[in-house]
Amino acid sequence: MREDVIGRANVEDTPELEAYYSELGRQQSYALWTVANDIEPWQPQPASLPTLWSYAALRPLVLQALDMVSPEKAGRRVIALENPGRKGLSACVGWLYTGLQVMRPGEFATAHNHASSALRFIMEGAGGYTVVDGHKMSLAAGDFVITPNGTWHDHGVEADGDVTIWQDGLDMLLVNQLDANFYAVHPDHVQKSNVPLNDTVSIYGGRGLLPAGGEAWSKPYSPLLKYEWTSTYDTLAQSARASDGSPYDGIIMQYVNPATGGPVMKTLGATIQLLRGGERTRAHRHTGSVVYNVAKGEGFSIIAGRRFDWKKNDIFVVPSWAWHEHVNASDRDDAVLFAFNDLPSMHALGLYREEALGENGGHQQVVH
Ligand SMILES: [Fe+2]
Ligand SMILES: [Fe+2]
Repeated sequence: MREDVIGRANVEDTPELEAYYSELGRQQSYALWTVANDIEPWQPQPASLPTLWSYAALRPLVLQALDMVSPEKAGRRVIALENPGRKGLSACVGWLYTGLQVMRPGEFATAHNHASSALRFIMEGAGGYTVVDGHKMSLAAGDFVITPNGTWHDHGVEADGDVTIWQDGLDMLLVNQLDANFYAVHPDHVQKSNVPLNDTVSIYGGRGLLPAGGEAWSKPYSPLLKYEWTSTYDTLAQSARASDGSPYDGIIMQYVNPATGGPVMKTLGATIQLLRGGERTRAHRHTGSVVYNVAKGEGFSIIAGRRFDWKKNDIFVVPSWAWHEHVNASDRDDAVLFAFNDLPSMHALGLYREEALGENGGHQQVVH
C-alpha cells in the first residue's frame, strides 16, 4: 500500500523493480518499502469486529453438547466463540480466547497445567467446583475464578449439583504467538485437596485485611483465586452510594491481587462495573481487547458506531482502539458487566494508550 506522505513508502512498481523483488524473494528477503506502510500502521488496525453473542441463542446449543460428547472424549466440553473478522484463529477478539463450558452433575475434567493463564466466570448452575494447586473452591453463578500460568487445575460438578455453564477466558493465543506455551497432564487424574474448602477466600478475602506475619505471598498472581459474586456485588453497590465512578465506565472496579493491588494475573486482567439506573457513559477508546459478560440487567453498548443490545449472560467484545460507551436501559435497576482483558499485557509492554471522544468524551453517532 503506497502513501503520498513524507516519511511513508511511496514506490511505484516498474518492470525493473519487479524483477529485482523476484531476485530478493529467491534469497528469502524482500524490500521493506513494499510492506512498510502495512506493518507500521498509523494506529491499531484490529481485524476483530465488535460482536455480540446472544445467550438465548447459544444456550440451547451448549446444552445440546451434553448428549453429544463426553468430557472424557472431548477433553473439555466447550463451545468456543469465534470473531467473524478472524475466522480459524480461535480468537473472540484480539488474541483473547473465550468459550462456554458445560458440565452435568458428577462429571469432571482431568487435572492439567499450561503456560497460558485462564479464568472462568460462572453463568448458571449449582455444585460446580474447581481445584487450583490443591485448593478446592465451590462455584456459584457470578463467581470469578483464576487458574494462573503453571498452576494445576481440574474442574467438575458435584453429584448433587445442577448442570453448570461457565465462561472460560484464556490468553493462550497470545502465548502461542510468543512461542511460549507448554501443556502437562497431572499424574493423578484428579487433584487431592488437603486444605479446607474455599480456604483462599477465607484467608485472603477480607476487605483491606491480609494475613500478617508468616511468609509473604510472592507468586505472580492473586492468592485469592476466587472472587465471590455476593461480596463483589455488595462492594459495587456500596461504591455506587459514595462515588460517581468513571464517566466512561460507571462504577468500575478491578479484581486485584490483594498482595500487590495489581491485576489478578500477569497477562489477563478482569473488571466488574455497575451502571446505575438510567446511566449512559461517554465514549472512549484504548489499546487492549475486552470481553464482556452481562452479569445483571439489560442495556446496550455502542462500539465503533454500532449498537449492540444486551441482556443477562450475553457476551460481547470491544476490539483494541474501538470507541465504546455503555447504556443501562433501565431507569430504576442497575446493570452489571463482568469483563476480562489483556490490559496487563499492554501495560507491561508499555503499549497502553487511551483517549476520550472529543474534549471530555462525547457520544458516537450510531452508523448502523
Ligand atoms: Fe486448563
Ligand atoms: Fe473502556
